[in-house]
Amino acid sequence: MRKKIVAGNWKMNTLPTEGASLAKEIVEKFDTKDVDLIIAPPFTHIGAISKVLINSQVKLSAQNMAKEDFGAFTGEISGEMLKSLDVEYVIIGHSERRSYYEETNSILFAKIRKALSVGLIPIYCVGENLEERESGNYFNVIKNQLEDGVFGLSKEDFSKLVIAYEPVWAIGTGRTASPVQAQEVHAFIRKMVGDKYELSTSENLSILYGGSCKPSNAKELFSKEDIDGGLIGGAALNANDFVEIAKSF
Ligand code: 13P
Repeated sequence: MRKKIVAGNWKMNTLPTEGASLAKEIVEKFDTKDVDLIIAPPFTHIGAISKVLINSQVKLSAQNMAKEDFGAFTGEISGEMLKSLDVEYVIIGHSERRSYYEETNSILFAKIRKALSVGLIPIYCVGENLEERESGNYFNVIKNQLEDGVFGLSKEDFSKLVIAYEPVWAIGTGRTASPVQAQEVHAFIRKMVGDKYELSTSENLSILYGGSCKPSNAKELFSKEDIDGGLIGGAALNANDFVEIAKSF
């Protein structure tokens, strides 16, 4: 059985003290069994939030990491640094990283290999932009993101990943992909993984949906066969909404 996961990507929001309070509130409110709840605060918050999460059910993720180990890489954060603060997951390839910071599939592949080598679980994001959706080219875009970003991994390594489908046109826009649209792409991803690796690899893979997911639409999205949870942006900044989404399976 694959894991149900709800992950909150805080992006560049909250001050460290506000983030620690939000994490505390989430810990206090979350009591859903069989769901892995993950929060991904900004780097500056991780040390403090890591302490808040000790002995809790809530897990910690980073939003990005360097593809290098240590050294002269000004402004970068290494996987080992994150691991030493009890971070378990790292989001790799968010569309904002791809588009604003020009992270290509090959850079992302290097980051994923580095994350795995230090024992972090990558949450690898894929998704098409509006133009690619409207031209009907979205399957090709996602195929390339999978082939160049993760299909170079061994089956053993691949089986550690979580994948998030985040159509760029649905992120922060209030325009959610319909459950049918999301399911179509999730099924496509699962099929590609099954063809590349093994059926069992694809059946055990958690694929999250992201893009304007909130308490009012999470249930319908999560009821779809191939949608195993969500990667939540805006709604993850409100403890009640975030915890509510985790109850939507
Ligand atoms: P929103 O939920 O704010 O649309 O953001 C989704 C997202 O980008 C999560 O990584």
